[in-house]
Amino acid sequence: METGLAGKTVVITGAANGIGRATALAFAKEGAHVAMLDHDSGKLAETAALIRDCGVEAFSVEADLSTAAGVKAGLDAMLAQLPRGVDVLINNVGHGDPKPFEEITDEQWERTFAINLMSMVRVTRHLLPVLRQKDKAAIVSNASDLGRQPETAPADYAAMKSAMLALTKSLARAEAPRIRVNAVAPGPIWSTFWSRPGGFADGMASIHNMPPRQAVDHEMKLRQLPLARLGEPEEVANVMVFLASDLASYVTSSVWGVDGGSIRNIV
Ligand SMILES: NC(=O)c1ccc[n+]([C@@H]2O[C@H](COP(=O)([O-])OP(=O)(O)OC[C@H]3O[C@@H](n4cnc5c(N)ncnc54)[C@H](O)[C@@H]3O)[C@@H](O)[C@H]2O)c1
Repeated sequence: METGLAGKTVVITGAANGIGRATALAFAKEGAHVAMLDHDSGKLAETAALIRDCGVEAFSVEADLSTAAGVKAGLDAMLAQLPRGVDVLINNVGHGDPKPFEEITDEQWERTFAINLMSMVRVTRHLLPVLRQKDKAAIVSNASDLGRQPETAPADYAAMKSAMLALTKSLARAEAPRIRVNAVAPGPIWSTFWSRPGGFADGMASIHNMPPRQAVDHEMKLRQLPLARLGEPEEVANVMVFLASDLASYVTSSVWGVDGGSIRNIV
């Protein structure tokens, strides 16, 4: 099937690791040029080299996407490099620090708000005028199944992911028919998000009072996933590429689960 992505330019936030990197590579394999923002300059350079190996252009800018100034400086520097504008925006960057509700401080709520929700708000607002210049532009945002079906923890993260889904619906109505706006809601995906020190595996370890790997397995049992495993970044990347492509030309305002079957309700 023809995705129609060859020669297009895709901006991806948080593209140095995990799902963002896998998504950058998946677009590159479809012939799209990839523009990436992240604060991890070392891994960003590695990802850019992998993109160029696919025979397309890679643009990368180091930016802290948790602040207004960081988003503005990063996107201004990025747009100055892009010869063909922007066809697709992937709002991927996100961060989670799972703790029981009473242990989440105001500072953590504000950090979670800034990196998970306000990055999407600020990046989208900055790029909308550029996306509106294209005939078939698309925005895909990376939310979470926890935004549709929150667990006991992390409450701050789940609340921001729900807000991302609400914003997806608002933008889909506001920007139609020129720009399609969709979201993915991944279930647990094994990436640096889980494995880094202080990441989801360590958070689950202190919540369940077990070693990290055992705590992850325990958490998966509690979630009763029909597919009974964590997902891989590439499995989310494939769905994001589909939603951004011509193959999804009648899909807007939708939330696509990539979650091993975690969501139990019908709508
Ligand atoms: N892994 C999962 O289980 C899972 C599940 C559902 C949703 N998600 C969502 O998918 C997205 C990607 O997650 P992932 O698993 O690839 O995580 P990851 O931690 O592997 O990658 C996140 C990327 O964002 C970058 N980043 C973090 N804070 C930043 C900042 N302030 N400025 C710039 N860059 C920053 C990191 O350097 C990293 O490259 C996130 O929005 C996450 O919430 C992940």
